[in-house]
Amino acid sequence: MKVDINNRSDIILLVDSFYTKIQQNLTIGPIFTDVVKVDWKHHLPKMYDFWESILFGKAIYKGNPMLSHFAINEKAPLHEKEFDTWKKIFFETVDELFEGENASTIKQKAQSIADLMHFKINSPQPKIKII
Ligand code: HEM
Repeated sequence: MKVDINNRSDIILLVDSFYTKIQQNLTIGPIFTDVVKVDWKHHLPKMYDFWESILFGKAIYKGNPMLSHFAINEKAPLHEKEFDTWKKIFFETVDELFEGENASTIKQKAQSIADLMHFKINSPQPKIKII
């Protein structure tokens, strides 16, 4: 029987499983492994902190995901196909491992953040700064 996401160990299992799948994915895997050449020892603990902050309200993640993804988008455009793939893998990983209220919440949060990120990245940026 599956259990809910209850603590940091559960987040670690989710994040590790998610990025194992991500690295094997032909659509977005190369963005991580070839374009950005992610340093996993650094990235994974950051993602444990990120999801613990989002799900359990612990303010341990320090960073700005929007700015990071604006920078990634300059090197490898992040469009609907890339976001749909990211969300599909995230939802599949959650559903394979967990079930319950927190499992539903983390999927909703991921969906909202992904959709906002997608919208901001693909919105035209103003060419001049209006003071
Ligand atoms: C098209 C989909 C996405 C791709 C290809 C992608 C790719 C990446 C990559 C390559 C990094 C590592 C950057 C580095 O090591 O310098 C990263 C960082 C990160 N990603 Fe994503 N990402 C995607 C969507 C998302 C979404 C939807 C979320 C949140 C729900 C998210 C949350 C984060 C966070 C929190 C970081 C760490 C940022 C920091 O503090 O440096 N990503 N992403």
